[in-house]
Amino acid sequence: MKVALGVTGGIAAYKAAEIVRLLQDRGVRVQVIMTRAAQEFVRPLTFAALSGEKVITGMFAPGEEHTPNIDSAIEHIAVAQSMDALLVAPATADVLAQFAQGIAPDFLTTLYLATTAPVVVAPAMNVNMWNHPATQANLDTLRKRGVKVVEPGSGYLACGMVGQGRLAENEAIVAAVMEALGTSQDLAGETILLTAGPTREKIDPVRYLTNRSSGRMGYAIAEAALRRGARVLLVAGPTNLTPPGAAETTRVESAEEMRNAALNLLPQASIVIKTAAVADYRTKNSAGQKIKRQGPMTLDLEPTPDILKEIAARKQSQTVIGFAAETENVLEHARQKLAAKNLDAIVVNDVSREGVGFDSDRNAVTIITRDEVIEVPETSKWDVAQRVLDIAVKLRARQKTSVEA
Ligand code: CTP
Repeated sequence: MKVALGVTGGIAAYKAAEIVRLLQDRGVRVQVIMTRAAQEFVRPLTFAALSGEKVITGMFAPGEEHTPNIDSAIEHIAVAQSMDALLVAPATADVLAQFAQGIAPDFLTTLYLATTAPVVVAPAMNVNMWNHPATQANLDTLRKRGVKVVEPGSGYLACGMVGQGRLAENEAIVAAVMEALGTSQDLAGETILLTAGPTREKIDPVRYLTNRSSGRMGYAIAEAALRRGARVLLVAGPTNLTPPGAAETTRVESAEEMRNAALNLLPQASIVIKTAAVADYRTKNSAGQKIKRQGPMTLDLEPTPDILKEIAARKQSQTVIGFAAETENVLEHARQKLAAKNLDAIVVNDVSREGVGFDSDRNAVTIITRDEVIEVPETSKWDVAQRVLDIAVKLRARQKTSVEA
């Protein structure tokens, strides 16, 4: 997802740097647009370095103040079409007036007119400017148009006065943006330990045992959890996917390495989700040299450690959700795993079905908790991820009330 962040000229402009980082932590890309006045307070380079994108600073080519730069004119339409929300923080009284009246002398105000995406504004100004009927009338107009206003807080203002006008807390601004993007922050404060992908068990230096897991289900959960405000500790087996930048990722190969990484991170986690398709067997002794082809051969295998079982045995107050891949007696086997591995929920994949599950973008699952069975018919892995996280939120809330009681 992409958010266009308009920074306008106020003393609070520097606070927008932190907002860029908070949005990125939630997996959101940020395109910063600065008005000319904002550039008097903070240099565009600061935002370019933080956002990793070129900062848009004007509609006009430098030195040609009255000649529209054709590249910029096209750019604002491109930005308007590619962004999922527009946030203005801090928003001056002036930009609010321009938005309300549809006056568009620069890139940001033109973008406001050109976009159909949701708009969030976080005003910051002197208390008298905030209370002025003109400002309040403009805000009313914007609210009626569906613009979300994150109200400023009260306190000492840069001008030396006391009253309402301080930029709202960054977390509140980011929460409003995430809500506008359709993602609530119901996992804020939670740390999710997530395992994903297959594992690889060495036979010799060039061969290994593995399975068809692509890691897509786990990565979808990682991305969705970040957007819902969680901290994500991702333990990833070998996959070709790029982990979300804001996830704290540990790469592993074998079940043994996955076990060690997961158990190490467990004390930090409040929720554990084990999507990984751990190889069930490994060779008893992997060969140090490449095994030569010499007629029939037998591999001597032993089971890998059951990571999930160990986690469930060591868990303190964590909510633990497992996955299960089944090809027959799907629900019955899953219920047995729920009990045997002492889980709070299990997500069952019927991997005998064509086109869903392993190595596909789509999935169809059943989520079983101790008192509920929830069918999730075939849909994208992204949707399945959201449903699994819905259950995690529900189980967490229940766990918290039972601890308090
Ligand atoms: N799992 C694990 N460690 C293993 C094997 C599985 O942590 N060595 C976890 C998986 O990450 C998954 C769950 O256990 O969350 C169920 O995996 P699955 O392969 O369906 O179950 P198994 O316990 O391996 O049982 P079986 O293969 O006999 O069906």
